[in-house]
Amino acid sequence: MRQTLNVHLNKEYKIILSDESLETLQEDIFESSQGQKKLFVVSEKVFKLYKKIFRLNKENTFILPDGEKEKNIKNYLAIIQKAGSMNLTRDDVIIALGGGVTGDIAGFAASTYMRGIDYIQIPTTLLSMVDSSVGGKTAIDLKEAKNLIGTFYQPKAVFININFLKTLDNRQFRSGLGEILKYALLEESCKEGQGLYLFEYLTLGCEKVFDKDPLTITRIIEHCLNLKISIVTQDEKEYGLRRILNLGHTYAHALETISKYRKYTHGEAVVQGLFFILKYAYSKKLITYSYYRLSTELLDKYGFKEELLKYSKDELISVMKQDKKAAQDKIRFIVPYDRKRVKEVLLSEDEVYEML
Ligand code: GLY
Repeated sequence: MRQTLNVHLNKEYKIILSDESLETLQEDIFESSQGQKKLFVVSEKVFKLYKKIFRLNKENTFILPDGEKEKNIKNYLAIIQKAGSMNLTRDDVIIALGGGVTGDIAGFAASTYMRGIDYIQIPTTLLSMVDSSVGGKTAIDLKEAKNLIGTFYQPKAVFININFLKTLDNRQFRSGLGEILKYALLEESCKEGQGLYLFEYLTLGCEKVFDKDPLTITRIIEHCLNLKISIVTQDEKEYGLRRILNLGHTYAHALETISKYRKYTHGEAVVQGLFFILKYAYSKKLITYSYYRLSTELLDKYGFKEELLKYSKDELISVMKQDKKAAQDKIRFIVPYDRKRVKEVLLSEDEVYEML
């Protein structure tokens, strides 16, 4: 299986979704970057597992230790210095091989090195396959807030190969499910009037997802990618519509920041954000009890439980106010208001405090 999805922006690019061998992927990468000097930015785990297949070595690779806490300014500078020491020019390419952290930091390095060079995304986690490798958001975190420094900078190509999921640990797999569940709750807001059935597909196909059935997983990835492409081509730089992809994220980013990026994977934090915002939406009668039940049961079906808040409300709100999604003195949330539809609301500190 090999499918090509096209992203039509100023800079057009292809997403290749496949289950072909990783050797074929290696050939594809080398073919698409022929004549270019390559700097691979590779997560440590992925380096250990795949260095032979992708011919990675100390000369052509920057190895990024695993975890969100590594998406920092120190590693960013080290990548830039590595590119400099390899004499990469504006004709060359950075290749991100890893999960969302690797893709975000490598993309940010590519967007700023010599004012921007090519980069290729090769996501190896479920989360980065369905979301972060596409759409051109690049970033690093500061202790004050997640993704505080970043750019919109589209990759040259994205190669998604589901064989990487065979070595993905269960916690990271579940983390990807968190972002997929987010898409299920907003799909009708992505493509007006088109019958989209991710919510139903996930409800019925839970066992196949847990078994990592390749066809089911491919369908889900393809579905999320189509939703993402639709949003990004309508609003590349997040002036409006793209904000809906932040469903669950105001709360999630605050949790991640406050726990110093050590306690939650991104997807786990997003699911807590979904529980929070579904409860808000139901309490304000934006959604019916039946939809609230169906949605929270779907999260439950995938093994997620709503956690009691372990942090002080004041601290959480102060972090939310530093988030890029904040607007003047209000905090921006994306809220469900109908089945699989969401909209933006601005809430005051007092309103958020009451909800926590
Ligand atoms: N991950 C959300 C976005 O790309 O806009």
